[in-house]
Formats: sequence, structure tokens, C-alpha cells
Amino acid sequence: MARSSRRSSGWGLTCFSVLLLLFLISSSVAVKHHDFKRCDQSGFCKRNRALADSMTEKSSPGSSPYQLDAASVKFKDGRLEGSIIKTVQDTGPVKLPLTISFLERGNVRVIIDEEKRRKGEVELRHGSVARKERYNEAGAWALTGAGLQSQKSASLKKISKDVSEVSWGPDSRFKATIQHAPFSMEFWSGDDKQIVLNGRGFMNVEHWRPKIDKPAADENSTQEAASTPAEDESTWWEESFGGNTDSKPKGPESVAMDITFPGYGHVYGLAEHAGPLSLKQTRGGDGNYDQPYRMYNSDIFEYELDSPMTLYGSIPFLQAHRTDSTVGIFWLNAAETWVDITKSTHGGNPLTLGLSGGVVDTHTHWMSESGILDVFVMLGPTPKDLSKSYGELTGYTQLPASFALGYHQCRWNYVSDEDVKDVDRKFDKHNIPYDVIWLDIEYTDDKQYFTWDPHTFPDPTSMEQQLDETERKLVVIIDPHIKNKGGYFVDEELKSKGLAVKNKDNNIFEGWCWPGSSHWIDAFNPAARAWWKSLFTYDRFKGTMNNVWLWNDMNEPSVFNGPEITMPRDNIHHGDWEHRDVHNINGMTFHNATYHALLERKKGEVRRPFVLTRSFYAGSQRSAAMWTGDNQANWDHLAASIPMILNQGVSGFPFGGADVGGFFGNPSKELQTRWYQAGIFYPFMRGHAHIDTRRREPYLLGEPYTSIMAKAIRLRYALFPAWYTAFHEASTDGSPIVRSQYYVHPGDEKGFAIDDQLYLGSTGLLTKPVTAEGAESVDIYLSDDENYYDYFDYTIYNGGSKTHKITAQLEKIPLLMQGGHIIPRKDRPRKSSGLMKWDPYTLVVVLDKDGEAQGTLYADDGETFDYEQGASIHRQFTFASGELKSTNLGAKGAKTASYLKTMKEVTVEKIIVVNAPATWSDQNEVSVTGEGIKGSVQAELIYHGPAGSKAAWAVIRRPGTSISSDWTISFPETSSPKSEL
Ligand code: NOJ
Repeated sequence: MARSSRRSSGWGLTCFSVLLLLFLISSSVAVKHHDFKRCDQSGFCKRNRALADSMTEKSSPGSSPYQLDAASVKFKDGRLEGSIIKTVQDTGPVKLPLTISFLERGNVRVIIDEEKRRKGEVELRHGSVARKERYNEAGAWALTGAGLQSQKSASLKKISKDVSEVSWGPDSRFKATIQHAPFSMEFWSGDDKQIVLNGRGFMNVEHWRPKIDKPAADENSTQEAASTPAEDESTWWEESFGGNTDSKPKGPESVAMDITFPGYGHVYGLAEHAGPLSLKQTRGGDGNYDQPYRMYNSDIFEYELDSPMTLYGSIPFLQAHRTDSTVGIFWLNAAETWVDITKSTHGGNPLTLGLSGGVVDTHTHWMSESGILDVFVMLGPTPKDLSKSYGELTGYTQLPASFALGYHQCRWNYVSDEDVKDVDRKFDKHNIPYDVIWLDIEYTDDKQYFTWDPHTFPDPTSMEQQLDETERKLVVIIDPHIKNKGGYFVDEELKSKGLAVKNKDNNIFEGWCWPGSSHWIDAFNPAARAWWKSLFTYDRFKGTMNNVWLWNDMNEPSVFNGPEITMPRDNIHHGDWEHRDVHNINGMTFHNATYHALLERKKGEVRRPFVLTRSFYAGSQRSAAMWTGDNQANWDHLAASIPMILNQGVSGFPFGGADVGGFFGNPSKELQTRWYQAGIFYPFMRGHAHIDTRRREPYLLGEPYTSIMAKAIRLRYALFPAWYTAFHEASTDGSPIVRSQYYVHPGDEKGFAIDDQLYLGSTGLLTKPVTAEGAESVDIYLSDDENYYDYFDYTIYNGGSKTHKITAQLEKIPLLMQGGHIIPRKDRPRKSSGLMKWDPYTLVVVLDKDGEAQGTLYADDGETFDYEQGASIHRQFTFASGELKSTNLGAKGAKTASYLKTMKEVTVEKIIVVNAPATWSDQNEVSVTGEGIKGSVQAELIYHGPAGSKAAWAVIRRPGTSISSDWTISFPETSSPKSEL
């Protein structure tokens, strides 16, 4: 698949675009490596790696030129302020203001700036209008303001002339030792060293200096170079790549630091990359990468797998994990960032990395092109603590409107409003539920957003009305590039109001994207965001009803003729910040602007907006869902989607999915079917396909494929209550929606590198998607000493560090239930989730070895923000001592009573108890007591004994209990269940 065909749809072919197309044409399906930089093609990355190499060679971090000026240190209310002095031979000392905040939750924030740039005492070259300071506003976009309170009781003591120590955290459990010269920091939890900053001396703050034009003779003088090894200035003042030259008016400005995790053998995070969940080493060697993980949001065409190459989004948050502890780093920088990872072992066999009893240390090296050095150190100590801390800082994932959890049907493109109506009808005809149908760029009139193609979409409203009859929604795409065309009202307004991104000469920036020549909205500008809002009102975005939501694509931003397919780094944004400083935040400013625009489409109409974004940064989780971009219809991409989605969870942006079926290419029927079976476990499930692919709506495949896919989607809908509860958890404590093995079983080292199976929230549902052609079984690893049960037939699998082969013919989804959980479901098949609103619940009680189980359920109106005023149901279910109880977990608010009234008639219609005790075999009823029930009532119990390897189970029909009230169901006397094989 060639880039050319991707770009071919109706794009007005000007002379320029023909040339561009020729340039882009290629016949192979592979990433264009030459479009994107390697570390040695990125000046600052190369310089910082070279510094790291020379420090390592010298094996002397002591030569690091950074020194904390002890006399400058002030400590008050949990904050240390002082100056680091960088000793530079030529220009004398450079002053770097330092702030270290010891925060309430046990985190620490270290900020290092540069005094000269901060004070503006520098001169920019080429008459640039750019700001002189280092960019210091990343926090304003990424942080919510919570979690930043310093702990007033933190205390500083001087241990020696050269070392200071601060104690803080709960019970002063944490300790930071600060070495003054060279500057470095160690973070301790009790007697355990957890994290070291600049322990290897790779810290680097490239200070401002004027460009001194040396006489040509000097530059070439090898004699001179031999006597004083001069710094390599070749990339300080200008950098060219792929025919584009970056004017770099501020000169070299990078910040870098080495961060070591002693005793930690696994690190996770650093979304977004297409590689394993447990991050690899990056300095070469067997099975390792030779490039650092790169974060520079890019439209990477046909991205490759198992690669540290950058993708569309960046979250510079990393978790380091070992059996007894998890710690983390959040590197708050919006510029291009590279991270090298290496590991070393001591006390064991160095080749086996820890498994032979040696201790593994993981070393990381963070390098950013510009901005201040701003890093959060997080001391956990569990993965959950980290998710909570990180979420507190950057915001928890939005609680989406419930339809967003349904199945989304997309392709590039549904060609007309009649086409959409037809697809809608066919889903119904084949009894396949779905919630949302999507329109890609072709719905617009000549790629002019906020318009409809008058020939193909003459009547969008009737299409939306048809969807609305089954509570379905429409999502339309709107990208940040605005067609450069006289008379197009959006472009006219963008220009006349001065709201577009500017080029280095401070004129409106013009580049190429889908519409041809385009301008880009500068969503950093509050005035641009206010204007953006005005475009979404129903009277301006004509043809949209209130069931229309948004997709923001190409917001890295993608610029077809730009360096690395994005904007020049010396472009200028609001506040006169250079694009290089803000690049990784750009996408987030845009989808945020759309989110807020959707909130204000009509006065008084306040519903939770749905926005899908391709580009993202830390904080994007507050207002969008993401997907993993342009994957390919092959088995490897299906397999790669699982670690990528798991990593999104670890990285605090769990509402994600991959294009189901694969974007480029045509999946075989088997691949597509398996992809649907895996896709029902993506938090965001959308089928999507490139414009050149064959139509592949699930009903088109024929039998048995259509029925198998329909069954999978129905399973997704049956588990809707479990999904919604998992989203609620994510929205309140940052937990991933789907969770990896190490996250759920942090003490089991055998699971730390497993990234092809996943748990759904806290439900104990564990799936291992089939991702190999022709496979009829999967091997699933069970960590804990508990029994697991096949979801469909209750076959028992013993846990306790065991791997089981589970048969999985095409129609079978490998899905297990961990003993000890209660899973809420809704079993009535409907056309869309909206139509399930008043349906009764089923509870599946999976008893553990002690005959106990518990679970939770969260529900609300799925649409408004009334839940913030208590309009929700939050139940705790427990089964213990033969009693199943429903109790309230929710807090009362102004809207609780009115909401509960609407839910009064919604009941539990069925309870299934898996691993039912044998003592129930001769019993036939349970008694039910609770709110609204006079005395007690009896309900029928039907017991099914164990059969071969299948567990006994029982079912209670119509217990007559409301989902929103307290009740108790008393089961017959139990003895310990006997289900072990
Ligand atoms: C690129 C996106 O990644 C893809 O999903 C979309 O179909 C095309 N842009 C066209 O809008």
C-alpha cells in the first residue's frame, strides 16, 4: 500500500501535489525510515548520547560540571530552592535555578531552569520573534493543579558539607539525599534505594551562548582541535533533514538527565510505541534496539512493529517495577524527547538479567530538545499507587458517555447518506449491535470542514434521524488543517482573526494536507479556542443534530510537505513559543478545544462529549479517547495491539483501541474474525479501514464468520456493566481499564514480561486473544493460587504459576473468570447500548476456594454530568458465609434520589453462582430480604452438579431484587466448595 493511494481521494491535484505524490510513491508496505530521524540525525540526541558515552568511558560521574551552590539553598514548607552552577570553561559559570518540591503524596518535583534565558538576557538569531525563555508551560496543559501541594512537615538536615537530606512522605518514610558536587539525588523508601538522578553524570542543560563565527581556517585547523577537544557545534545553529532546514534561532538548548532504578528489572510506559510492554534496552546488543525510544508525535506512515520509533502520541511517564515495589518518573517536557534504556546485573550471572538471582538495575537517559528540566519522581509503592498519583497530577480518564463503550463502525469512507442508512439497516437485519457509525474526510465539500458534500450528503439530518431511532450516533472527522481557499468561511475567519500558527517570519504558516494548501488553527491561543467553539453550534455546523460527535485526526500535526511530515520546529505559536517547544502538546490542545466546543454547542444542553484523537500527550485522557493509528491488516499487527493497549493503561490514558480488522490491506476472514474477538477487549472498539480496501462490515463476511463476529460483539454488550464499572474506576483512581499481568499480580516475576493476555478492570475476567493464523488453542498463564473458570462452560483451570492450553477453535474466545469475583452483566441482546438502559442485570458470582466472592457495579444515566451530583448507582456485592449481599458504595448528592427513582424498576433478573457448593444439590430455593421487600421472599435455585472438568453451578431466577437497593440473599447452608481438580 503506498502513501500515494492513501492520499488519492479527491485531493485536487495541483502541479505541486503531483510532484509530491511522485515523491511519496513506493510499492512496499513499510515505514519510510528516511522520513524520520534516528538519534544520530537529531543534533541534541547525538550530542547527549556522546556525552553519556564519554562519561561512561571515563567511568567518572564526578566530572559532571553541575554543582549545587550550598550557600544558595533555602528550604521552607517542603520546598527547596537554590542554584546549580554549571562550570563552563569558555564562558564562566552558568546559573541554573533549582526548585525541589516534596509533595504530599510522596512524589517529588525537580525543576531546573536557566537564569539567563529566564531573564531574557539572550539574543536570538535571524531576527526571530520567538520567546527567549525556556518553555515552562507544559505543566499548564498537562497538570490539573492537584497533587502539587508540598508537604509542610518535610524536613531538611545537612549530613555533611556536601550532602543534604530531606525526609518526607507518610511517617517520613521517604528520604532524598542530595549530593552537592556534582549534583545528584538519591531517593529512598526506608532503607531501600529506589531512584537516582544524575548518578552517572549524564545531566546536561545546554546553556545559551552567542554564536561566534570562527574564521574558516580555525574551524578546519586539526592542530587546534587536537589540543582542545572542542564541542561539536555542527548542529547548534542550524539543522537540516530531508531537505528542510531548521533555523534554530535559540541555539542549542537541550536538557537531559540519567535516571537509574536500582534493583528494578522491568520498566513500562513511555507511550506510544509499537513494541513489547516491558520496554527493551536501546543501546544495541542481542535482541535490543540500537535507538532510544523516541517521543515526537508524528504521522508515521505504515509504522513498523517492535520498534522504538515515535508514533502519534507521547506520554513521558514510566513505571519501574520489581516484586515488592513500583516507582515512576514523569518527565514533563513537550519538546522532542528520546529515552535510552540499559540494564546491568550484579551479584548473579550477568547474562541472565536477574532470573539467576542477580540484581538488575535499569538505567534510563532522558533527553529533550528544549524547555526547562521538570521531572516528577514517584515512589509508589504499587502500580495502583502510581496510577493514582499520576492521575491526580494529570487528571483521570474522562467518564465517557456510555455509547462510547459500544461497537463503532467506521471506514474511509461511507460514501453517502444513503450508504450510511443502508449499513445501519443491515446491522439490524443481521442482529449485530452497534452504537456509532463514522464519517471520514470524504463527507466534506472538498475537504472543507464544517461543510457537507452537497452531492453525496445532501440530507445529513435524515441520516442522523434514522440513527437516532435506535439511539445510535454519528461521528464525523474534523482535522486541524483548514483549506487555504478564498471564500471558505472557516479559513477567512481563521486568517482575519489571526488565529493560525505562524511561520518563522511571523507570517501565517502554509503547508499541505488533505485539502492541498492549508493553514493550521493554533489551539494554544485562547482566542482560537473560543472561535473554535463558535463553529460547532448547530446553526453554524449545519446538518448536525445532537447525536453527532467528533473525531480529530492528523493533529500531531501532520503536514505532508513538512520536515518529518510535521510542522517546522521554528514555526511560532501563541505566546511566541517556537513549535519545537510545544510540539508534543499540539495534538492535545486541539482535541481539548473540540471537547470544550462540544460542551457548548447549545445553551442548556450539557452532555459528555465524545472526541477521538490520534495525537496525545499527558493529560489527553481528560477529554478524549485515542486509537493506535494506521495499523495493517495482518496477524502481527493484531498481536501488537494488545501490548500497545495495555501500555496505554499503564501510561494513564487507558481509553484506547486499535483499528479492528487493520487499516491498510484486506484481512482474511479468519483474521478479521479473530480481530473482532480481540477487539471486544479494547476499551475503545472501532472497525476501520483504508479507502482502498474492500468493504468489510461484519455482516458481509458470510457464515460462519458473520455469526461468530456478531456473537463476539454481543458478548461486549453483555459485559457492558462490567466495562462501565471499569471506566468508572479509571475515572476515579486512574486504574487501567484493561490490565496486564504485572499490574494485577505485582509480586509474580514470571508475569512481568507477559503482555498478550489481559484482565478487564477488577472483574477477574482474563482473556488471551488468539493472534496467530490457524491457531486452535492458546497458552494462558495463571499467576495466583486460585481457580479460574471458562467463561462459557465453567471448565476449571488451577492457578498458582501454571500455564494452561485452552482450546480455541474459531468460534471460541479464550476467556476465564478468576475465582472470587462477582461480574455484572446484561443478557438481553439489543440493537444499541442506549436501548439496554432499562434492562435487568445478571450477576455471575464466581466463588473462590473459600466460597467467597465480591464485585462492584457502577451505573448512571450514561449521558449527562448529573453523576457529579450523585445521580448514580454504585454497589458492592459480596458473597460470604452463604449470603450474597448488595450494599451501597455511592455518596449521596443533590440528584441521587431523582436518579434512583428512574432506576426503581431495574432489577437483578438472574444470579449465576459458579463453583456452587455440593450442599446445594438437594436444595431448590433461596430467601431474599431487603429494602422494599416485606419480610422475606423465596426464589428458585437450580443446581447443576460438576461434570468432568466443569465446575458445579447454580442459577437463581428472578430474585425480585432491585439493582439500586440493599438486599441479602441467603443460600442454603454451605460447606467448603469442592472444585479442585
Ligand atoms: C489518517 C487516519 O489515521 C485514518 O484513520 C484516516 O482514515 C485517514 N487519516 C483519513 O482521514
